[in-house]
Parts: sequence; C-alpha cells; structure tokens
Amino acid sequence: MNLANRSLITIDDLSNGEIETILFLADEMAALINDQCEVCRGKIMASLFFEPSTRTRLSFETAMLRLGGHVVSAVDIGATSLAKGESIADMARVVGSYADIVVIRHPWEGAAKVVADYAGIPVINAGDGSHEHPTQTLCDLYTLKKEKQTIKGLKVALWGDLKNGRTIHSLAYALARFGATILFRPSPGLEMPEYALRKLTTEYEGKLERDAETLKHAFQGRLFPVDAMYITPSHPHQLAMMPDISIQIELKTGVDALYVTRFQRERLTAPPEAQEIKKDYLVVDRKLFKEKEFKRALVMHPLPRVDELAYEMDADPRSMYFKQAARGVPVRMALIALLLGTLGTKEVTIPKENESFVARKDYPIYKRDSGVKCPNPICVSNQETEARYIKPEFTIVSFEPLILRCVYCEHELYPKYIASSDWHEGRLENKKYHSADSHLIRKIKPANLIIFAAENEAQARGFKPSKYVTGH
Ligand code: NCD
Repeated sequence: MNLANRSLITIDDLSNGEIETILFLADEMAALINDQCEVCRGKIMASLFFEPSTRTRLSFETAMLRLGGHVVSAVDIGATSLAKGESIADMARVVGSYADIVVIRHPWEGAAKVVADYAGIPVINAGDGSHEHPTQTLCDLYTLKKEKQTIKGLKVALWGDLKNGRTIHSLAYALARFGATILFRPSPGLEMPEYALRKLTTEYEGKLERDAETLKHAFQGRLFPVDAMYITPSHPHQLAMMPDISIQIELKTGVDALYVTRFQRERLTAPPEAQEIKKDYLVVDRKLFKEKEFKRALVMHPLPRVDELAYEMDADPRSMYFKQAARGVPVRMALIALLLGTLGTKEVTIPKENESFVARKDYPIYKRDSGVKCPNPICVSNQETEARYIKPEFTIVSFEPLILRCVYCEHELYPKYIASSDWHEGRLENKKYHSADSHLIRKIKPANLIIFAAENEAQARGFKPSKYVTGH
C-alpha cells in the first residue's frame, strides 16, 4: 500500500484496506498528540478554507503542527486572487509550487478535484459544497470502530439534512462499502439525492428498499419511519421473499448509531423555503433516546449543531460528538503523514480486515462538445471563471436508460437525444439524431456516441430527427 503523493477528493479514492490503515495509524498518532514529533519536519501544508470552519481547519492545522510541519493559510476568498477573477486551476498551480500538500474547502462542488488536477502535490478535500467531506468520514469511521469494534453488520441511521449534508454523502458510501446497513431518516424535503442513492446500489451492490408501503409495514409500531433503507449484501436474509419481514429481522436489535446533521441553511437559494423546512426539522433529545431502538445507539454529529440535537444529550454516555471532533487530530495526522510519504521505512501494517474495495474506474467517459452541461448550478464546471478551461466531462454509468454522471460533482444527467459520429460518413443527409430511449443506443459504440441535451442542440449541429425521435 502506498498513499504517498495521492490526493483524497472523494472517499472512494481510498480502498477499504487503505482506510483501515489510516485508522490503525491514527491510534499510533494519538500517542504523540500532546507532543510535537518530527514526522513532517520541513514540510508545508497550505490550508485554504473558503467556507466557515472551526473543527476541520483547526484540526488539520493542529495535526500538521503536531507532526512538526508548518502551515500557510488563506481563509477568505475575498483576500485571495480568486476575488480578482483568477481561476481555481491557476491558484492551484501557484499554491502547488509553494507548499507540499493542500487542504481545501470550497463552496463549489468539484473544486477540490480541480485543485488536485492542477496542483501537482497531494490535495485533501475538506468539503466541496454539498458533495463530499471524506476526512470527516474517516473520523466517523474511527469513532464507530473504537466504540463498536467493527463496522460490518452495524445499523446506522442517517438523520436530518441528507440532501445537502456532504458528511452524509461520504459516510453513506463508506458504510455501504464496509458492510453496514443504513437507514435514511431525512427531515421533510431534505431527502438523499437520487444520484447518491443510485451509487449505493450500482457501486456497492447492496439492496435499496424504497417502497413506501413495504417500509411502512416493516416499521409498524416503531417510532422510526425511514424513507429508504440500504441493506448490505453481506446479510443473507436480504434474499428473503418478504422484504418487510427481512427488514424487521434486521431491526430486531435496534440501531447501533444515529448520525445527526444540522439543516444546511446556507445551501438554500430561496430563503422563504428555509423557514418552512426549519419548522419541520427533526430534533434528537432525551425523550427520543428513551426508546428501545436506541438503547445501544451512539449519538454522532459532525458538528456544528444548531437546534437539532438537544444539549441535554451531552451528559449521556452514548453521545460521541465531542469525541468525534477530538479524534480529528490523530486521524488527520495519519492521513497527512501517509500522503506526504514521510513515515520513511517505518513499517505500516495493514490490518487483517481489509476487504479491498476499489472504486469503479471502467465507465466510458463522455467528453464531446455537444452542448451537454452538468445540471448542478454550483458544479465547478458551470462557473464562469472555470469554464475557460473546463470542458464538461461525464462517465456513462448506464446506457439503458442513458445516465451520465458529472466527473466533478457526480450529479446525474438524463439526456434525451443521441447520435453516432460513425453513421453519416460525411454525408449530411445521413446526419440523424434519435431518442436516447430508442433501441439504437445498443448499436452505438461508446466512442462514437454523441449526446444532445435538447433537439435544438442536435439541429444546430446539422442533425435531423430520425424516425426514432418521439414526436416526429
Ligand atoms: C460539517 C461540514 O462542514 O460539512 N462540519 C464539519 O466539517 N465537521 C458539517 C456541517 O457544517 O454541518
């Protein structure tokens, strides 16, 4: 295993074995925490936090100082040349020539990937919009392992703003990969994004139960209605003929952890909507935790909390959130040292339980200039300063139905029209486009596929509708 010179942008950049190694090493780092060691002597970390942060920034900077390294930082876009219209790519090249490692938090989804593409040094994503926050997930997994010994087979409920919470997205993927079962309990209107739910089944191969009737029946009599449930493939009764019975078996022993998140108000574009959502936001308190479902449940929260987690829970031994935050330092010390490759010849032992998940990299790429754009307005590829050099780029995650996934923010696009670059052979009368759901999608080689977001895009490029265009 070698993490040296790699970047951590999404949790899927690490295999399960690599995650285990980081957590294992974090234990060793915890022993050094009250001192300063020499592991990263002479190394410089650039800490770029273009969104508010207390825990993540300070724990990263503390980690680097404890490792004997140095920190340079920028905490306000307004104080950098980004405010003058500089692109993230240019900033990344420059910072990459000053520092040895970059930690970045940015409101645009995919921004950390761009920095990693251009900096030439390891880059750590400390949160990119609502997309991902992989190092928070490392801290969350560390706490789960410390308190419950293993993640495999745990039942973890994700609670609150599942739509905009980036900690939720990274954590859900990791839990699925380590064989946990996940209950999704969103506040109304803040459900998990479709793209994230789909990833759970296409990438991690468990079963996603979303049928409202089945869930209602299975959760009867429990105070814990969920709107979706991910059942890990390692649980055999997943195959039961009656899904509601299999869910009931799954829940017999209650949940192992409740992961609470605050309402991510800053992600909403329409403030009146915020009032409505806040009114219905779910609250975790002592009364809820008296229920038998939560008897053995840890209360977790990435913090900061607002009103969703009652202060009366702080004295409860099941409450883990301040421990989670404190563990941020040794976990980040381990990560920084591994990415910088400064542990020298020191043996890094890979623990036994290392199911080797490696993210799928074999999806065909779509990168033609045919008018398709990422549908996410805060994707880095849709920003004026970045559009100078970024061309929209997607992986084709499914052909029937046709689904593209943005390589920057992972939002999905369901294009309606297709053509082949192979068919017209220069003859204009053969330049035809078709509906994406026609059988022709099976005949076009991925390398020849042209995708249009709308008919006028196809026509503007000289294509005429074929008989396989609905409505022609
Ligand atoms: C989280 C974040 O920034 O996404 N905070 C953190 O890093 N611990 C959660 C949040 O802001 O709600």
